[in-house]
Amino acid sequence: MIQLPVLDTDYDLVDGFHRRHDYLRISLIDKCNLRCHYCMPTDLQSVYRKDQLMSANEIFSIAEIFVKLGVKKIRLTGGEPLIRKDIDDILDRLSVLQVKLCVTTNGILIDRHINKMKASGLKSVNVSLDTLKKSKFSAITQRDNFDQVYANIMLLVSEGFNVKVNVVVMKNTNEDELTDFIALTEKLPLHVRFIEFMPFEGNDWAKDKVVGYEEMLRNINSHFNIEKLTDPVHSTSKKYKIPGYTGTFAFITTMSTPFCSDCNRLRLTADGKMKNCLFSKNEVDLLEAFRNGHELTPIIKSCLLDKKATLGGQPDPNQMENRSMILIGG
Ligand code: 5AD
Ligand code: SF4
Repeated sequence: MIQLPVLDTDYDLVDGFHRRHDYLRISLIDKCNLRCHYCMPTDLQSVYRKDQLMSANEIFSIAEIFVKLGVKKIRLTGGEPLIRKDIDDILDRLSVLQVKLCVTTNGILIDRHINKMKASGLKSVNVSLDTLKKSKFSAITQRDNFDQVYANIMLLVSEGFNVKVNVVVMKNTNEDELTDFIALTEKLPLHVRFIEFMPFEGNDWAKDKVVGYEEMLRNINSHFNIEKLTDPVHSTSKKYKIPGYTGTFAFITTMSTPFCSDCNRLRLTADGKMKNCLFSKNEVDLLEAFRNGHELTPIIKSCLLDKKATLGGQPDPNQMENRSMILIGG
């Protein structure tokens, strides 16, 4: 039997470039228990009042609308999502949706929530960890939780979660540790992802602090024989492994080789604003519309139609206008 192609018109979340969107990242909170400078500016004024944040009920109701429109995967981010007092309730509520539920966390509180994470059907956890050295961890994060984070990564692995380790690679900070991270993948089923340093409000981004994909590859190639793996559709990373190793490693190359043509991601900030791109300046206030009883579907679709072809329509990284990363949510 001939399989007819699915037309754009059969699917609700299509933008002006025929990109289908089925992945929603929801930031739960704009606060964090670490202080990584590339994410949280030292002079961060904001922090939302509790009533400005989406409640657990509102998160569920808004997420449910996205799921009805075709979202198949939801990732919870922050700040640090696990510091929300009602995180277990949020996990409970979202667990009834027909989606792949994932979380990105700094790892500190995983042991406290792991049972609830398992019960909610969450299988995939991304842990941010930029160094394997305790003293450097304290320098980057301004806190000394290295042992907790490392132990919690091991806990996730032993409990059978699919674990990715996110490493933001920066010049003169941790570029010397790529091979140490890869060495971890020999025995452990970890998926290490080296992320090119990206510009956000207040994070002192400069081109010469970025360690690009090619440079990372060259460095790694001089130590290991590496094998390229196939990247699934919509993948934001370029995947590799060392033959015979248990885990894999990959590169997220937003700065050197953006992957926008295949983008399937939407974002919701902790204060309920929809962003159609990580780098979009424009935001649409879904929470206010929801609280005023408006129908969200047309608002969501119109926000999506405004999505730019690449990098939120801001191709020059030195001129980007955006929130800080902690206020966007990974
Ligand atoms: N550049 C690249 N990655 C960043 N992250 C946070 N800020 C930046 C930045 N400026 C990463 C975090 C987290 C992921 C969601 O985004 O380390 O793992
Ligand atoms: Fe998608 Fe924007 Fe990221 Fe490009 S920069 S992949 S359009 S979120």
